[in-house]
Amino acid sequence: MQGGPGIEPADPQRHAVLTNSAAVAANFDAVVLGAGAAGLLCAALAGQRGLRVLLIDHAPKLAEKIRISGGGRCNFTNRAVGPENFLSENPDFCRSALARYTPADFLALLLRHHIGWHEKHRGQLFCDDGSGRIIDMLQAECAAGGVTPWQPCVVTTVRHDGGKFVLETDRGGVQARALVVATGGLSIPALGATDFGHRLARQFGHRVVEPRPALVPLVFDAATWQGLAALAGVALEVVIETGTGRRRIRFLEDLLFTHRGLSGPAVLQISTYWRPGAAIRIDLTGGHDLAASLLAAKQAGSRRQLVTELASLLPQRLATTWLATGGVDGTAPLSQCRDRDLHALAQRLRAWTVTPSGTEGWRKAEVTAGGVDTRDLHSQSLASRHCQGLYFIGEVVDVTGWLGGYNFQWAWASAAACATALAAGPGSGSETR
Ligand code: FDA
Repeated sequence: MQGGPGIEPADPQRHAVLTNSAAVAANFDAVVLGAGAAGLLCAALAGQRGLRVLLIDHAPKLAEKIRISGGGRCNFTNRAVGPENFLSENPDFCRSALARYTPADFLALLLRHHIGWHEKHRGQLFCDDGSGRIIDMLQAECAAGGVTPWQPCVVTTVRHDGGKFVLETDRGGVQARALVVATGGLSIPALGATDFGHRLARQFGHRVVEPRPALVPLVFDAATWQGLAALAGVALEVVIETGTGRRRIRFLEDLLFTHRGLSGPAVLQISTYWRPGAAIRIDLTGGHDLAASLLAAKQAGSRRQLVTELASLLPQRLATTWLATGGVDGTAPLSQCRDRDLHALAQRLRAWTVTPSGTEGWRKAEVTAGGVDTRDLHSQSLASRHCQGLYFIGEVVDVTGWLGGYNFQWAWASAAACATALAAGPGSGSETR
């Protein structure tokens, strides 16, 4: 990057800190706040289009959320991405940016950097060699755009003054005609997450949809979970749903029992839609006709006990615990079980309804639902409707993706949309939608 030695991808310290510029002009075309997924790509693309860009981050290490994502391999996008994979108060808001920067665009970028990738289930795309390759790539793209990095750097005040943004930082003052807020969500404060973006939004008259932890395990009170804690570690495919009417949503995914509640992809997905006090409904048979299977085994003359028969259809520990907590005698021979009791047993497994007492919170949440209200942003550019030259991109915005690479795709797409608007100059992106 401009004036910043020691950031070549080959440098072993390359991810420790973006090396700082010795003599940086205090005037830029754009300041990007937050050097995470969205901020890095936006800064790089804007820089490559000829803008003088300053990229500021307060964290000592670069792009930690990319590094830890996808179990260290970064599930960087998904083959099939559409507005239906996102939650927002305005479900159509993400449509424009997603349509203009697609998974194929990001794959083309990976190809240029010779980064191998592979597909896991449900279209999820991961790096072959670890998420560090994505960070290297974004750094190299920033370098190609002549982006100036200030990291770590703390911003103390932001003002909009005579058509310019004036920032005070612990490295001195900066001025720019555009300010891009890419400070992410609130999850994992230990990695540098702050509410700075939400506070800045309010400062400039934006509404903020109350942020809440999402893609997060759910917990239950001790009374509800009594007897079920013994299931910790049991995993199985389920159908899970919450909400009613138009707000009803369901997923077919794996569920994991924990000591305090439920986790696994099924529960992380539903947690984004779950609201305090609401119930979740779980089909522990994963959509199979368990009653038919039990009745067929009975008619075929099975001599097995009920618990043994059930354990051939469900994980053993779940079968045992389910019968015990339901007060059902699992030692009864299947042949002696009444058909209607088998139906009732299957029905209970298909419609397990429980109400979580809460979530594991920001410490465990992968993302933040809610954020800068999309009603105050232009969907094509991510520009503020209240302050010319101000933009919000990535997770700080009220657009939350499903598990499976969607949140990074939103970061890339919103970054690209914003960079295009920045390059088009002042006042661009003020379309009416
Ligand atoms: P991001 O969080 O990446 O960057 C924000 C930046 O702003 C940070 O560098 C932060 O330090 C900086 N910042 C914050 N406050 C600041 C301030 N006051 N001043 C200066 N800088 C400030 N998604 C996905 O699609 N696939 C996946 O595999 C995963 N896996 C995953 C695992 C885990 C454990 C987590 C926590 C999250 C994921 N995600 C994910 C979600 C994904 O990481 C997330 O949605 C994107 O990183 C969001 O990109 P942003 O650039 O918006 O924020």
